[in-house]
Amino acid sequence: MGFATDAIHVGQEPDPATGAIVAPVYQTSTYVQEALGKNKGYDYARTAHPNRRALERCVARLEGGLTAYVFTSGMAATDSVFRLLRPGDHVIVSEAVYGGVFRLTTQLLVHFGIEFSFVNTSCLDNVAQAIQPKTKMIYVETPTNPTMIVSDIAAISKLAKSRGLTLVVDNTFMSPYLQQPISLGADIVVHSMTKYLNGHSDAVGGAVVLTRQEDAERIYFVQRSAGAGLAPMDCWLVARGIKTLAVRMQQHDKNGMAVAKFLESHPKVKRVVYPGLTSHPQHEIARRQQKGFGAMISFDLGSLEAARRLLDNVKLCSLAESLGGVETLISHPALMTHASVPPEVRQKIGITDGLVRISVGIEDVEDLIADLDQALGKV
Ligand SMILES: Cc1ncc(COP(=O)(O)O)c(C=O)c1O
Repeated sequence: MGFATDAIHVGQEPDPATGAIVAPVYQTSTYVQEALGKNKGYDYARTAHPNRRALERCVARLEGGLTAYVFTSGMAATDSVFRLLRPGDHVIVSEAVYGGVFRLTTQLLVHFGIEFSFVNTSCLDNVAQAIQPKTKMIYVETPTNPTMIVSDIAAISKLAKSRGLTLVVDNTFMSPYLQQPISLGADIVVHSMTKYLNGHSDAVGGAVVLTRQEDAERIYFVQRSAGAGLAPMDCWLVARGIKTLAVRMQQHDKNGMAVAKFLESHPKVKRVVYPGLTSHPQHEIARRQQKGFGAMISFDLGSLEAARRLLDNVKLCSLAESLGGVETLISHPALMTHASVPPEVRQKIGITDGLVRISVGIEDVEDLIADLDQALGKV
């Protein structure tokens, strides 16, 4: 079936007990056993529950994976993937990765003997040069948050396969509607489902999509042993959000392009970073591997003071962390989402004090542009 059909129907079958078109929230911690060792497929909600299984089937289908596991956050999902490794293993990570992943790797996982190298994965030579005998995994975020750097998934996958490495792609910014890393050769896909998959800013969650049975078994072992599987109500909310993913992404994509063009033409804006603009250094790769360019844009106003004036004056756009919801959110990466990244690293990867990130929602785009225009007038 097509993407939109799968998004609405896979894992979303009517409830067999009552015929309810929308399956209920199974808000229960335990399941009665018919006899010792005999149950209806569920025994305890940390291990599995119907809402989680349903959502996992749907996410796996949309990403073209073998199976998926959903977690309490995007960070918990990413953490479970790094638990496939052992002390002494080495990972190559996109240097402009989301700040939370930078913190997880450099401040937590290093203490368990896993080593990380941060490289600009938009250049294949950098990735090839960073490979060491102990390298086991390449972890790519594309486009990156908030610098919108695009890496060539198919080219990195070819390299990874030739060296026996696992390629992990964070597909949060694109969603499976706009980009399908597995079809480009990725072995594992991770998501912050808090963003586009849920789409309504009312739940936090993460997903890991696997292509190999062996990885699937190990990730499920992590999920049920460490206990960070997503709770019933949150699974239900994300599953509901996913039903409209296709139409939402079409509108996000249109609004994103219109806002990027407006910003690029505005005299107060020094630089706009959006893969859909021909000025973007990886525009051609984005065109090739993405079905659209999405709705995440970063732009530089030249100074913290200018960024502050814009953020203080927007009215329709909300100053907030997070992204991917139907409403437009605007933020200051250096002081908000990427505050845990040291200033010298921020400088290197292009998170300047004047950089503003916008997650363009699906409101009427003229209203968004009018709001940005009046706020830029005060800069
Ligand atoms: C690209 C990316 N990956 C992962 C995460 C972490 O997700 P969560 O906040 O759901 O833990 C985020 C959060 O902003 C993100 O932007």
